[in-house]
Amino acid sequence: MGFFSKLFGTQQKEETTMENVKVAVIYYSSTGTNYKMAQWAEEGAKEAGAEVKVLKVPETAPQGAIESNPAWKAHVEATKDVPEVTLADLEWADAIIFSIPTRFGNVPGQVKQFIDTTGGLWFNGKLANKVVSAMTSAQNPHGGQEQTILSLYTTMHHWGAIVASPGYTDPVLFTTGGNPYGTSVTVDQEGNMVENVEPAVKHQAKRTVTVAGWVKQGNQ
Ligand SMILES: Cc1cc2nc3c(=O)[nH]c(=O)nc-3n(C[C@H](O)[C@H](O)[C@H](O)COP(=O)(O)O)c2cc1C
Repeated sequence: MGFFSKLFGTQQKEETTMENVKVAVIYYSSTGTNYKMAQWAEEGAKEAGAEVKVLKVPETAPQGAIESNPAWKAHVEATKDVPEVTLADLEWADAIIFSIPTRFGNVPGQVKQFIDTTGGLWFNGKLANKVVSAMTSAQNPHGGQEQTILSLYTTMHHWGAIVASPGYTDPVLFTTGGNPYGTSVTVDQEGNMVENVEPAVKHQAKRTVTVAGWVKQGNQ
């Protein structure tokens, strides 16, 4: 077996469909990139057989800040009907896929604010064994994409979650920047995605569902 065959040797198993896996795709987005990625993740997870909810992290920025940025204002308006994530959603989910933009190489304050409300769930062991995976975007390819995902994964380790990063489990990873921690995309000055990450997002979502299915089955 060659190097790449070995590298991708688990692909067939990973694409096995998984029923009854519940996935929360939780995103924060100011200008729409991470909402789009969340929608692709929803499609990928559904194709893998999962039940999926797309949920937004509550906005905490002052209204004045939103109003001062037309793209931000338009995105808030366009997604006003997307449900906000609650602690009950976290408890419901077998798997969680996060999509969040970088903020100086770290998670957005809005996301940290939400994460810091999960202490009660954590204390009661309700976050242990959640299968999690994360995606991100940034203005620059080296503007903190990897670091943002790893920052979020730090918290996931404290939760006792099981991180299902994509690694190099599919050739598609090599066409989208090759970030093994999670899909990441560069956004240009006009807010357009530079790389076509849709296939990588869908692969990551399917893999997350598959790993969650294994964990769920093994836990029954
Ligand atoms: C406060 C702030 C900090 C940011 N920091 C960085 C950064 O360190 N590196 C970078 O490449 N982009 C940075 N960006 C750009 C965002 O990551 C980019 O706008 C975002 O990924 C777009 O995603 P969205 O459309 O889902 O909001 C920053 C943006 C803001 C508002």
